[in-house]
Amino acid sequence: MSSYVIEGGTRLTGECTVQGAKNSALPILAASLICDGTSVIKNCPRLLDVEATVKILGHLGCTVKREGNTVSVTSDNASEYVIPERLMREMRSSVIFLGAILARNKKVVLSTPGGCDIGLRPIDLHLEAMKKLGAEVREEYGNIECSAPEGLKGASVTLSFPSVGATENIMVAASTAKGTTTVINAAREPEISDLADFLNSCGAKISGAGQGTIVIEGVKRLTGTVHTVLPDRIAASTYMCAAAITGGEVKFNNIIPAHIGPEIELFEETGCRIFTDSRSLYLKAPERLKSVKLIRTMPYPGFPTDIGAPVAALLTKAKGTSVIIETIFENRFRYAGELIRLGAKIRVDGRMAVIEGVSRLHGVGVQATDLRGGAALMIAALSAEGESRITEIRHIERGYEGPEKILSALSAKIKRIDGEDGEE
Ligand code: EPZ
Repeated sequence: MSSYVIEGGTRLTGECTVQGAKNSALPILAASLICDGTSVIKNCPRLLDVEATVKILGHLGCTVKREGNTVSVTSDNASEYVIPERLMREMRSSVIFLGAILARNKKVVLSTPGGCDIGLRPIDLHLEAMKKLGAEVREEYGNIECSAPEGLKGASVTLSFPSVGATENIMVAASTAKGTTTVINAAREPEISDLADFLNSCGAKISGAGQGTIVIEGVKRLTGTVHTVLPDRIAASTYMCAAAITGGEVKFNNIIPAHIGPEIELFEETGCRIFTDSRSLYLKAPERLKSVKLIRTMPYPGFPTDIGAPVAALLTKAKGTSVIIETIFENRFRYAGELIRLGAKIRVDGRMAVIEGVSRLHGVGVQATDLRGGAALMIAALSAEGESRITEIRHIERGYEGPEKILSALSAKIKRIDGEDGEE
């Protein structure tokens, strides 16, 4: 299996350009299914999850081409409406295709997406919403079947939790429904606004994205467009953790500081100096980071759950004790045991992690447990004394485009070792 070998102790310096947002590219690629003609998606990161999404689009009958970081999707012959288990298993967030396939084919069959490394990931809010839009939903033998032979009809949907995926599925499904749909308590992440921008440029009529209530006025048809995916705020904050834990000084280009307000506050609380303009950020770390008394993850615009693990790694070297409370997913601290192998002092109790800062970490072999937990190991290894080897890096490469290239360009000593042939 492939791995990263990292020689810790080098201060990160220089400039880097942040990748396009995984969590924006995936729903936009899925939404291209309901557009006639060709959609051209620029700044689309080269990630395992994007490859899995492209594979599903191909399975559904789309023609997909990638040139560098641009992916073009032509959906005119997409008549397939079943996503088989093997493809669903490859990427849990394939549920993002639910609304698009239902809207296009009036029917969709998905195998129930299993849980994943960080939690059960139920989709009840998605299915309740599809019912509100007029679909009949049947769940049996591990399959979910939604059908709306007369087409979908606009409705008012109130989400009991501002689910990102459910909000996205409703927006896509309602874009060509008959009548108007209102989503109350919608997710407000920047990726929701990016999806709305894509759909509106295809001819949809969506207003209120990024706020708590979104209104979608159904239109007859959508036509493919050219869209540039917004910068990945989670990748940006991840690399900021890498710079900060090494006492570094790095300029980040293609970043939207307005999307990472709580993260910037946190870095400043640790003693980092941050300078920003509209599309870039400069971070200068202190000699020794200060601890952060309490971090509580929340839906956007609160502190994002996805950056909890990289920040936990950062705080393993801070002076003092920090506490992280995870309110979104039930199993987001699996990486803590691997950080402890590197010499971190962490105690986990349910959804709370208590991190007692240490002055030194030591390089050892560790195993990535999930996407953001794997990123946390990279961050800690950059600051550990000696050599670390991180295995199961496919988890990391689901969401980070060539991290070894980004970090090496900032002077980190990191190598990607390809696995034996045929191995992961
Ligand atoms: C999206 O997942 C992101 N994934 C996640 O990023 C992110 O952590 C999450 O939003 C929260 O911001 C993508 O965009 C591909 P949710 P999603 O629906 O849509 C519960 C990463 O690391 N829930 O907002 O699945 C659910 O169990 C990934 O890039 C229900 O109960 O998140 C969870 O507790 C990880 N029923 C909470 O809501 C439902 O029907 C948040 O889920 C749906 C969700």
